[in-house]
Amino acid sequence: MDIGMVTTIPLIIVVVKNKKRLILNQKVWLFSKTTSLADSDILNGMTDYHSHILPGVDDGAKTMEESLEILAKMECLGVRDVWLTPHIMEDIPNTTRDLEARFKDLKMAYKGIIHLFLAAEYMMDNLFEERLTENDLLPIGKNCSYLLIETSYFNPPMRLQDILLRIQRKGYCPLLAHPERYAYMNEEDYRFLREVGVKFQLSLLSLTGIYGSEVRKKAEWLLKSGYYHLCGSDIHHFVVLERVIAEKKISKHMLEELRFLCHGTTFG
Ligand SMILES: [Fe+2]
Repeated sequence: MDIGMVTTIPLIIVVVKNKKRLILNQKVWLFSKTTSLADSDILNGMTDYHSHILPGVDDGAKTMEESLEILAKMECLGVRDVWLTPHIMEDIPNTTRDLEARFKDLKMAYKGIIHLFLAAEYMMDNLFEERLTENDLLPIGKNCSYLLIETSYFNPPMRLQDILLRIQRKGYCPLLAHPERYAYMNEEDYRFLREVGVKFQLSLLSLTGIYGSEVRKKAEWLLKSGYYHLCGSDIHHFVVLERVIAEKKISKHMLEELRFLCHGTTFG
């Protein structure tokens, strides 16, 4: 049996026939099956492969101050490496050159010990196809051999198979961000994507339930079924990081499955 957190039941006042009976400081040791990410050691030594910390370039951190605040918090949690993966899509048409310049600014401003790397999260839209044609890309991974991609949460992209094939012909492995969050995807879709060589990236926070119970259930199933290749926080804002990491709970059973993803992967 898993021995969990100690929970203290507060002072209880029981009223029986106008007589107050105090049950003082009754400490009850309970076996908890969940824990917060902050109370676990899962983030210690982790490489975060998905974040929106680069300031002022997408819907993530707005200012350099917020970026530095997030990095300071991550440092406290023991995170070792962070990949910055700003959105690139038709609605947020960041250029490679602008992102590289902003990354340089952040590296100048950040004086901590986390290693920072730059990649991007590409929506599989027309702009992505243009960038792919022009070889104008920010890949991810130690050998820069993966492209972090996403789709709409509700509909598959047009020509999905064709785009995946084009990515592979360019010599990259498609790495699908947060597959558990796509409402239109089912078991058959996941199996198909895995068969055609797509790697899956878990969004760590999906396991806390902040995106809803359906997303959490899908994430737990994908994790237990061995679909995931690695994970990332997909963190956008400091307040969310602080609140979710401290307050939201994840199953300790899932935590054990997560350990390999966070610490045992050999991601090229
Ligand atoms: Fe993201």
